[in-house]
Amino acid sequence: MVGNTYEALPFYHSGTGREMCQWLTHIKLSRIIILTSIVLFIVPLFTHYYLSKVESDVPDRDMYRTFSTLEAFEDFTSMKASQLKMRIEEMFRIKISVSNELRDLSAKRQRLQSEVNSLTQKIDELKQELLHQQTDLDRLKISVEQAQVAQKEAVERNTPELAPPKRILINTLPIVLPSTNPRSCRMYNCFDHSRCALTSGFPVYLYDPDQFSVVSPGWDVDGFLKTTIKQTLGYNPHLTRNPAEACVYIVLIGEALSLHQKRNQRHNKALDIKKLQALPYWGGDGRNHILLNLARRDLSADSGNIFSNLDTGRAIVVQSTFYRNQFRDDFDLIVPPILGPPGGDVWQECAQMLPARRKYLLSFQGEMRTFMGTAMTYQIDDADIDLEKLIIDDNNIDAFIIQHLKDMSNGITLDKFFIQFECIPASMESKPVETLDWSLCGTDSSRRAILKESTFALILAPSNATLLTTSFMQARLYEALRAGSIPVILGGDQILLNYNEVVDWRRAVIFLPKARVTEMHFLLRAVPDNDLLTIRRQGRLIWERYMSTAQGVVDTTIAVIRDRLGIPPLPASQTPSPSVFNESFVPLKSDAIIAEPEAEESLGPLEPPYPSPAFKRNYTTLLIQNHEIWNDWMDPFNLYPQLPFDTVLPSDAKFLGSEVGFRPIGKGAGGAGKEFSESLGGNYPREQFTIVMLTYEREQVLINSLARLYGLPYLNKVLVVWNSPKPPVEDLKWPDIGVPIHVIKAPRNSLNNRFLPFDAIETEAVLSIDDDAHLRHDEIMFGFRVWREHRDRVVGFPGRFHAWDQNYHNAWNYNSNYSCELSMVLTGAAFIHKHYTYLYTHWLPQAIRDKVDEYMNCEDIAMNFLISHLTRKPPVKVTSRWTFRCPGCPVSLSEDDTHFQERHKCINFFSQVFGYMPLLNTQYRADSILFKTRIPHDKQKCFKFI
Ligand SMILES: *[C@@H]1O[C@H](CO)[C@@H](O)[C@H](O)[C@H]1NC(C)=O
Ligand SMILES: *[C@@H]1O[C@H](CO)[C@@H](O)[C@H](O)[C@H]1NC(C)=O
Ligand SMILES: *[C@@H]1O[C@H](CO)[C@@H](O)[C@H](O)[C@H]1NC(C)=O
Ligand SMILES: *[C@@H]1O[C@H](CO)[C@@H](O)[C@H](O)[C@H]1NC(C)=O
Repeated sequence: MVGNTYEALPFYHSGTGREMCQWLTHIKLSRIIILTSIVLFIVPLFTHYYLSKVESDVPDRDMYRTFSTLEAFEDFTSMKASQLKMRIEEMFRIKISVSNELRDLSAKRQRLQSEVNSLTQKIDELKQELLHQQTDLDRLKISVEQAQVAQKEAVERNTPELAPPKRILINTLPIVLPSTNPRSCRMYNCFDHSRCALTSGFPVYLYDPDQFSVVSPGWDVDGFLKTTIKQTLGYNPHLTRNPAEACVYIVLIGEALSLHQKRNQRHNKALDIKKLQALPYWGGDGRNHILLNLARRDLSADSGNIFSNLDTGRAIVVQSTFYRNQFRDDFDLIVPPILGPPGGDVWQECAQMLPARRKYLLSFQGEMRTFMGTAMTYQIDDADIDLEKLIIDDNNIDAFIIQHLKDMSNGITLDKFFIQFECIPASMESKPVETLDWSLCGTDSSRRAILKESTFALILAPSNATLLTTSFMQARLYEALRAGSIPVILGGDQILLNYNEVVDWRRAVIFLPKARVTEMHFLLRAVPDNDLLTIRRQGRLIWERYMSTAQGVVDTTIAVIRDRLGIPPLPASQTPSPSVFNESFVPLKSDAIIAEPEAEESLGPLEPPYPSPAFKRNYTTLLIQNHEIWNDWMDPFNLYPQLPFDTVLPSDAKFLGSEVGFRPIGKGAGGAGKEFSESLGGNYPREQFTIVMLTYEREQVLINSLARLYGLPYLNKVLVVWNSPKPPVEDLKWPDIGVPIHVIKAPRNSLNNRFLPFDAIETEAVLSIDDDAHLRHDEIMFGFRVWREHRDRVVGFPGRFHAWDQNYHNAWNYNSNYSCELSMVLTGAAFIHKHYTYLYTHWLPQAIRDKVDEYMNCEDIAMNFLISHLTRKPPVKVTSRWTFRCPGCPVSLSEDDTHFQERHKCINFFSQVFGYMPLLNTQYRADSILFKTRIPHDKQKCFKFI
């Protein structure tokens, strides 16, 4: 090394010491050094030797050898002392001169070295620049190609956009028509569809119950219902005040209560049919009228059935009790009684879902009353019962059932039963009601206590099979579902439950014919825990959504009729996105761009903004996915622009007729990294994503994060949610990143703002990101591509999990330790579907959003709960190679201990609200396909690093 450097020196040599130059060019410098050192070190040694030799005759062999070596250079011994001195001095001079020269040379060397360095660096930079330009060029080429495809598509669109027809509203009141036979009513012959165009939005008119009373003198509509129904309908978006444009007219009839408290009043005297027929828009036959007769307090047998034997014309009857021959299929509607609050959160009413098996396997509390008001007694004399004979006689089969259940609960089994056929203490004064159905025993809270301890709740269908449904049975169903006790209906084949048109009750209730009573115990024991909990969860979903509150019952009733007519719901309301800047203010721009270190990788075309197509499936979602809407995703009340569950075309469709929007990889031929980076591929048409970033008074951190987004492919827009009440400083320079940056003035400082369904979000994919998160472009791209295949899940980077804390308090802990299993992906850097922002804001129990505000924490946990609850799927974690927090950024508040403590509390609180822990574990992470695969060098990987 040293030699090499010195060898190079003569070439650069110049300036001082030029006289040495000739000499130096002749003799290699290394030799000079050797020579000089020999002279400098050996001569004194020699002198010493010479002197010592005079004194002693003992030859030192080593010295002697050195001496003889030196002789080869010069014969020092023959020199005189003065000559020697001169020689030494001369040598010293040479030494000084040489060392000066050396110092000089080394300084020069350093200078030149640094020059070389800077030049190589420049070369590197130029190379880099070339690569950059090349990438930019490539990217532009791709972009141009994509733009050409898009243009071509626009030109030769094979299915031109058809504008929906104008909202057609009828503008006349119903004309009077002669009455038809009401018994044969179905939608096709009794409903006037001309009042309800597909695009009408289904306007609903309510006769004000105070103004238009239809009950007989001496009766009144329950005051609570009157106020509540008026109020809840006021919140329903379908309500109209203009009777001329209405599609349906709602008449609130009950629960009708006798003002004189004479309980022996027959309920079918409650309705004044003349008043009903005199309603201003009755039109002679009551078509498109909905008679809402809700049960609330009086739940005995057929009490609520005030229409039996009355001519209600073509009006749709909505109540909880029907005779079999009275109920008109797919025309009348069975609803649950109103037993809950007007609206709001109901989760506190519910029992926790676990453990799967409770103290009692089965419970029943009820009493059958005779005409005379005494409890009916059954006599079973023989052990040998003639079942055939019993089946013919309804009462006898009930007697057999009761006897069997009694035997079962007293029999030798480890299962516990709570079976009570006579109310203890005997209920109230005897009520002379017909013995058509069972009545409830005990108080609401005593029954609730038993039900909370029961795995299954027995419901006996009415003994008199002419009853199709009774408010008692519906009330019992309500209580069972609320307590998480799975309803088992003996005689389930002879009855109908509420909203049976749309609700798939078989997923929440066990229906058994009465004849199966002897097999019931076996069957119930055969239900495994996982199914128990699935059934229980489904029951609770149905209960919460459709039965628990007056609002739920009213909204569901309207939604079922609308659904029958094939009219889509009204669009879900979005949150306006007001800019934080006023109209006259133009924010300053800056050109500062923070280039990504991996920017030489071409990740995709830069396109003009392309919002996701919206509201394409207005009329088909409720046909194709009706079952899921009512029973899985649980929102039949709103129309969404897109769903994470939208249907997929088969992959040949994108080559045979349905090409529009698709960007297959290599035009369908496939390909490795190069072709991959040029098109989105996948099963869905092209799309872009929106970045939503929440920020609070960290302007520079925010600006840096924004600047890093420059040149990000498929980015549609950036929304910055400005949580601070102070507007941004006026001289803040906003980077120009090629897509709009929309800064939204948040209504108030809340972390829930991160998930508001802003109308400015025009894409399905939303990348939720912290203002200090530093994701690389390739990571974002990969995340986006993975999300496109898991549109219903959280797809993102920081994984966390919920850990069971057995040692301390048998509860959940939030955990961010290294782990091979995760159950949450934090929304500090994750893709979610915009649909979930609606649900987070309008569907999630308010208590959860309140908790987020209380702690200023946990909104990301809440989103994971919501999505896992709805989909029963864990989140998807994508590739690991990334840097979450930016170095040098201020330490975020999430590091301190209270933050963690709050997150423990959130997890436990949220799972209480849901009634179970919805999070699911996963041990899986997504990496790109050719990651860590050996590929030929003429091929590219999907991504260079991930
Ligand atoms: C679907 O409904 C939405 C919201 O009402 C409306 O904006 C859109 O035009 C409708 N689309 C079609 C194709 O009818
Ligand atoms: C069932 O109820 C109907 C109507 O109240 C009644 O006419 C019939 O006799 C009852 N049947 C039995 C078996 O009690
Ligand atoms: C708009 O905002 C700027 C800066 O915040 C302020 O100086 C200006 O007065 C505002 N203009 C109006 C019309 O409010
Ligand atoms: C993470 O692991 C450490 C060490 O194993 C442990 O002390 C700590 O309690 C863990 N953190 C949590 C939140 O469980």
